[in-house]
Amino acid sequence: MNILITGSGGREHALAWKIKQSSKLDQLFVAPGNAGTAQFAKNLPIDVNDFDNLAHACIENHIDLLLVGPEAPLVEGIADFFNSSPSLKHIAVVGPNAAGARLEGSKAFAKTFMHKYQIPTAGSLTVTGETLQAGIDFLQQLRAPYVLKADGLAAGKGVLIINDIKEAEKELESMLKGKFGSASAQVVIEEFLDGIELSAFVLTDGKNYKLLPSAKDYKRIGEGDTGPNTGGMGAVSPVVFADRSFMEKVESRVIIPTIKGLQAEGIPYKGFIFFGLMNVKGEPYVIEYNVRLGDPETECILPRISSDFVELLEGVAHENLDTKRITIDDRYAVTVVLVSGGYPGNYMKNIPIKGFAETKNCIVFHAGTGTDVEHETIKTAGGRVIAITSIDYSFEEARKKAFENAEKIQFEGKYYRGDIGLDLLKYKIV
Ligand code: AMP
Ligand code: GLY
Repeated sequence: MNILITGSGGREHALAWKIKQSSKLDQLFVAPGNAGTAQFAKNLPIDVNDFDNLAHACIENHIDLLLVGPEAPLVEGIADFFNSSPSLKHIAVVGPNAAGARLEGSKAFAKTFMHKYQIPTAGSLTVTGETLQAGIDFLQQLRAPYVLKADGLAAGKGVLIINDIKEAEKELESMLKGKFGSASAQVVIEEFLDGIELSAFVLTDGKNYKLLPSAKDYKRIGEGDTGPNTGGMGAVSPVVFADRSFMEKVESRVIIPTIKGLQAEGIPYKGFIFFGLMNVKGEPYVIEYNVRLGDPETECILPRISSDFVELLEGVAHENLDTKRITIDDRYAVTVVLVSGGYPGNYMKNIPIKGFAETKNCIVFHAGTGTDVEHETIKTAGGRVIAITSIDYSFEEARKKAFENAEKIQFEGKYYRGDIGLDLLKYKIV
């Protein structure tokens, strides 16, 4: 089968790396891809949101399956675009239609959905410019800190956590007046959940699902979870405090009701669901849904799946995921992201990257990388540049190997967090 993956980050390199190992694969394409995917797949210079040119490329290259990496094209309806066109509908799309993608595209929709299907989540109220006063009244009933979320996609910046009530009221008003453009025309005000975050992932054909490995990511730029939020500075899998009994609660209270809820809403969901969870004293709560895999979580969880990934994708396409097997490697994976100095603010690009040949005992996934005109030197092309994953029976060894390799890859201004996984060492299971 011929597969096209859309996206250009570490997540897409990891998906391509895993898919490439399948005996069921004929040709692999990535649009637009990066310097890492170019090493073993054919990169196509097409933007992830350019549906027309993606459609042409699919027809020209006899694509059988389109795997959508990022959320924006899903929210914009790429699955509907393919499914409704006579010349494209034979192509299986892994990624939900626009109705399903609202789980991520509209936080107000996600909250209504969770409340309707009794999926545990923080208490909330959704407000608009007209109902600002009701929002202020609701804020006054809550205890600090106050959580304000822009309804729509806001490039990961739309969530504010504020300690002072007066400031929260002011921010609420400014969000409703367009602080995040139309994304904050509606704002979800939420109760603050005090706990430890982790993520669960499933692949579903709309009826059946496979639980993928769990992961914890590290969102802040600075060690000790300080400084601004980023796309993700590292990840670990499995999450040691997500033991069997906790994961059973996640399946019975969160995952199964979500899939049944989607069915009840008449939404045929084919793709990944990423559950952002809070473990509050052993009880799972949903913080958010994403309709795609996480980045860098993918770089951490895919190396732990030992079975054929294309078979699972076929199971989604043919709606027979229940007949497929998934095997998970028991070992620990640790992913460390190398970023360009200045990220998540302004950073330089086109800096040569060296040291690939010196790495060992790890997988080097490219994120923001490209090659120069002569296609010789690999250069930085984004804020998050490389994701290094090491895997071992010992969590401490996996961390050690990942950090050793993080030292070997070199580029001017390189920065990484040296404390990925450090908080989990206190759990004695490792
Ligand atoms: P979201 O985009 O909804 O995942 O929110 C971004 C981050 O804000 C999450 O990863 C959490 O760290 C934090 N957050 C969101 N909602 C809550 C909540 N209700 N209580 C505590 N922290 C939250
Ligand atoms: N690492 C978080 C995300 O992909 O949303």
